[in-house]
Amino acid sequence: MMRKLFYVSTAVFWIAVAGLWIGNLMAPADQAAVAAEREIGGAELARHATPDDCWMAIRGGVYDLAAYLPDHPSRPSIIEPWCGKEATEAYDTKTKGRKHSPEADALLPKYRIGRFIGGS
Ligand code: HEM
Repeated sequence: MMRKLFYVSTAVFWIAVAGLWIGNLMAPADQAAVAAEREIGGAELARHATPDDCWMAIRGGVYDLAAYLPDHPSRPSIIEPWCGKEATEAYDTKTKGRKHSPEADALLPKYRIGRFIGGS
């Protein structure tokens, strides 16, 4: 009786191990791959040039900043003209030769929607 129980439980154990192993082999190989980013060119960027629909290209990324604009600490007239444009220089200098803080840099990823591929 005990012997039979031993055989059965050993068999169940190895079947479970084999199941996990096969399941692992069948898992998609590209699990670690990051989803490809959307590629956005200058023409598409330029179609989002108003405060309500404001995209900017900064350091090779495209950012949808419409939701952020009302929270931006400067006067709206300083940041709004950059909607729809390549704005790396403006971002890096605040248009007055001073860098944004690391806190500002840390906000950017939240608004990233794609990679800027240039063109007009
Ligand atoms: C690209 C056009 C932009 C321009 C011209 C611009 C300009 C400015 C100016 C004039 C100030 C206030 C004065 C000062 O702190 O020196 C400021 C502050 C700030 N901006 Fe911008 N900004 C731009 C884009 C952004 C973006 C895209 C973000 C983040 C998503 C951002 C985040 C901040 C933050 C957090 C501050 C507070 C001060 C700091 O952290 O540096 N700005 N910006």
